[in-house]
Amino acid sequence: MKIGVAADHGGFALKEQIAQFIKKMGHEVVDYGAYTYDAQDDYPDFIIPLTEAVVQQEVDKGIAFCGSGVGAAIAANKVKGARASVITDAYSAKQGVEHDAMNVMCLGGRITGIAVAEELVRNYINATYTGEDRHNRRLNKVSDMEQKWQA
Ligand code: RB5
Repeated sequence: MKIGVAADHGGFALKEQIAQFIKKMGHEVVDYGAYTYDAQDDYPDFIIPLTEAVVQQEVDKGIAFCGSGVGAAIAANKVKGARASVITDAYSAKQGVEHDAMNVMCLGGRITGIAVAEELVRNYINATYTGEDRHNRRLNKVSDMEQKWQA
C-alpha cells in the first residue's frame, strides 16, 4: 500500500518515526513534508497537499501530524473528498475506516507516544471500509452536504 504522510513542526518528530514504522510494515511512504524541522512552519502547507494526493488517489491513505492533530484534521477536511479525524485510540483507528471510510488519520505529536501511534497506524492501515448499506447511506448524506457547501 502507498501511505502519504505530512507534518508541521508539532508533528515532525512523530512523522519521521512513523514513516520508518510504515516502511518496516512493508508499505511505501510518500512524504509531503515538512522535510526539516522548522518551528515557524504552518500545518496547512503540508496537510493540504497530502490530502489532495489522497483524494486524487495518488496514495491509498494519508496520515497527518501536527501538535494535537486538531489543526491537521480541520485543514484536511476542507479538501473535497477528505474524511479526516483526530485519532487517539485503537478502536477508532480501525472503526473509522470500516464504518466512516476515514482516509486521513490525524495524530498529535504532543499527545500520542510512539508505541500507541504505531498501534493506531497498524489498525488504520490494515482496516478496510465494509461498504455496508447503512454506512453508504450515511456517507452519502455527508457527501450531499459537501456538494451543497463546496459547490
Ligand atoms: C503548532 O504549534 C500547533 O499549533 C499545531 O501543530 C497544531 O497542534 C494545531 O492543531
